[in-house]
Amino acid sequence: MQRSLTGIKPTNEPHLGNYLGAIRPALRLAESFESFLFIADYHALTTTRDPEAMRAHTYDVAATWLACGLDPEQIHLYRQSDVTEVFELSWVLACLIATGQLERGVSYKDALAKGEAPNAGIFTYPVLMAADIILYDADVVPVGRDQLQHLEVARDVAQRFNHVFGDDVLRVPAPKITEAPLVPGLDGQKMSKSKGNGIPLFASAKKLRKTVMKIVTGSEPLEEPVEAEGSTVYALYSLIASDDERAEMAKRLRGDDYGWGHAKQELYEGLERELGPMREKYEALRADEHGLDRLLKEGADRVRPTARATVDRVRKATGISR
Ligand code: TRP
Repeated sequence: MQRSLTGIKPTNEPHLGNYLGAIRPALRLAESFESFLFIADYHALTTTRDPEAMRAHTYDVAATWLACGLDPEQIHLYRQSDVTEVFELSWVLACLIATGQLERGVSYKDALAKGEAPNAGIFTYPVLMAADIILYDADVVPVGRDQLQHLEVARDVAQRFNHVFGDDVLRVPAPKITEAPLVPGLDGQKMSKSKGNGIPLFASAKKLRKTVMKIVTGSEPLEEPVEAEGSTVYALYSLIASDDERAEMAKRLRGDDYGWGHAKQELYEGLERELGPMREKYEALRADEHGLDRLLKEGADRVRPTARATVDRVRKATGISR
């Protein structure tokens, strides 16, 4: 079975957009791979300066993925920082990556263009990410298009290492572009924490309903037929409903006794059906931080031998050890 690996930065409490756009598709994809999924806390440190938020979001992310159906027996779930071998490999890879390639990094260039003074962690972000991937002999890395350039660095450096130090020491990873569905937020723009248009994933049913009712719609009176296509309510409903249910809602909106309020209510009910049971699991998981620590540690213990073996091969190939 091919091995897939991906990392998630603990920078926010996951929202509905993360679930529909990333978590749910990733868990489906994971069924056909041996999957590694880790919390990229040291990558988050390039931007996070709040230790409480780092701690809390690490648990938020772990509890969310578990509540959404991640089975820790099937998927290796761990904290990046728990397997320190990644830093040893990161250094070795840094010695094989040209600074020019990092200078072309999109996030780094963006930061400079905005007149910021990016820290060295932002500059070397792709090096650590390459190490994350190569350390575990990943075959494929499911990522969005925004991460392609990082994957290119990982591929290049693995190939260069093998070219210089011997064939087949490192596995060369391939990106797997995941066309995540676009999940609109309350205002119709892509749902994101920074835009403040998010629908919380595990808020209470009451809060969920209240938020859904805030979705921006047209102001046509009930009798007026409206076009479902292009509306935020319908776009969100489409992500959780069956084809028949979708078609039914579109038909009703075109009719004269069904309006946006009804559609929102139906969207809320659909969301509650899918999220309600997961919310209960989330609350239980999130309340037990020691349990989450234990689980993450077990995950790290399971993947560490693979990391150790890669570092040993690298040490030997480079002449650092016999
Ligand atoms: N850079 C990724 C992001 O911002 C997170 C990440 C860190 C990652 N290391 C990784 C993703 C390794 C895939 C593989 O989303």
